[in-house]
Amino acid sequence: MEFSIKSGSPEKQRSACVVVGIFEPRKLTLAAELLDNAAHNHLSDIIRRGDMEGKAGSTLLLHNVPGTLCDRVLLVGLGKEKEFGDKAYCEAIHSAVRTLNETGAFDGTVFLTETSVRKRSSAWRVRQATLVAQETVYRFDQFKSKKDKVRRPLRKLTFVVDRRNELTIAEEALRQGQAIAEGMSLAKDLANLPGNVCTPAFLAETAQKMAAEHKLECQILERDEMAALGMHSLLAVAKGSQQPPKLIVLQYKGGKNDDQPVVLVGKGITFDSGGISLKPAPEMDEMKYDMCGAAGVLGTIKAAALMKLPINLTVIVPTAENMPGGAATRPGDIVTSMSGQTIEILNTDAEGRLVLCDALTYAARFQPETVIDVATLTGACVIALGHIATGLFANNEALARELVHAGDEAHDRAWQMPLWDDYQELLKSPFADMANIGGRWGGSITAACFLARFTKKYVWAHLDIAGTAWKSGTDKGATGRPVPLLMHYLLKRAGKLN
Ligand code: BES
Ligand code: MN
Ligand code: ZN
Repeated sequence: MEFSIKSGSPEKQRSACVVVGIFEPRKLTLAAELLDNAAHNHLSDIIRRGDMEGKAGSTLLLHNVPGTLCDRVLLVGLGKEKEFGDKAYCEAIHSAVRTLNETGAFDGTVFLTETSVRKRSSAWRVRQATLVAQETVYRFDQFKSKKDKVRRPLRKLTFVVDRRNELTIAEEALRQGQAIAEGMSLAKDLANLPGNVCTPAFLAETAQKMAAEHKLECQILERDEMAALGMHSLLAVAKGSQQPPKLIVLQYKGGKNDDQPVVLVGKGITFDSGGISLKPAPEMDEMKYDMCGAAGVLGTIKAAALMKLPINLTVIVPTAENMPGGAATRPGDIVTSMSGQTIEILNTDAEGRLVLCDALTYAARFQPETVIDVATLTGACVIALGHIATGLFANNEALARELVHAGDEAHDRAWQMPLWDDYQELLKSPFADMANIGGRWGGSITAACFLARFTKKYVWAHLDIAGTAWKSGTDKGATGRPVPLLMHYLLKRAGKLN
């Protein structure tokens, strides 16, 4: 979809559709009022008759509105003015774009970006509108022989901002929104692909293509190179599968040569059967999403490159398939990780931490300023936080605060969980330096505590996205999270957030 920014009055727009907001109950926004004046109270008459109350998410499409130059006017309910915040704003943009797409309007001129949103800037409104619009039209239909074609899909959206001097800021916010949306859509595509297509080798090829397209440096470590580095924890996960594991490294250098990079590590289990500790059959298909951490960090580096962010960013993806083949790791097996610490693998289904620990040890060689890992790590995190918040753990409070704030700003929220040493004893093993599971209680915390043993040398945070990276049920599909959170964190660090 094409996007642009302008300022102007609604009655003068030559557009297939002009979109304006109505607050509940029956209160016109400024743009709606201007249209109403030009149309000799046409809108207020309709509203008085009770056709549009302004309930959040409701829409009413009008044709032939007198005194205007557009083909249609779309009224969008914004809910109560007092309660108009992030959620109501995003819902309004979503309803508007969905309706435009169904209506057959070729282009839309959206005035909702003019209305102030509690605690948010006009740049935020434009960035968020771009993201939500792209989300709304996203489809994953590459395996459908008959695609449900929209008859005349929406091609062009124009966002209106209220003053001319805001145009440059709004245009930058628009470009940021587009780049984040592209990153999210890559993350969603990779995640939605089935395990027989999106293998570790497929992720590695994807990274190589991205490197060629966006001028990134790419390095793929194969099994023997990983063995030489001593990554026996990572390799233990891949032993039961026919698919060879890979360690993918992508580097984006937008900063100065000697700027220390932010390193993002993404869990890339392309299918998690549980291994010998086999998972039960129901919903096992969803374990194709066990590479959403990888998808998220690849989406993030793509967005950063598209934006030409002035920072150095490194992405590391340990990727493997967790299967119960004859050569698979057994419960009770003991391996030595790259760090030298030994691990008793009591449950082969706790494989995420096993691939991450070696990737996190490897991360130290990039002299990182900060390391953030992203993983669909534990079912326990979903029990704790549901599908709303990502679980956040950090060995540094300032970093934790920045990430919580970025999540809030991006409407892609994270909630901090404890990483206290008191939990460490749950990982005790009678035979090795640690076990890979900590028992029934506090499962997302013991998983994070396991990782913490490998991240002592740098500032580190861990995002458990098990509950937020995809949706189950009828609208099953990847969400593209936490690309918005990570991008807001990076934008803020680069001083590019208005
Ligand atoms: N990939 C799963 C975590 C997961 C489960 C994410 C369900 C989303 C939904 C992970 O590898 C796993 O299996 N974790 C186990 C750990 C346990 C064996 C300690 C879990 O959460 O049950
Ligand atoms: Mn598992
Ligand atoms: Zn897993």
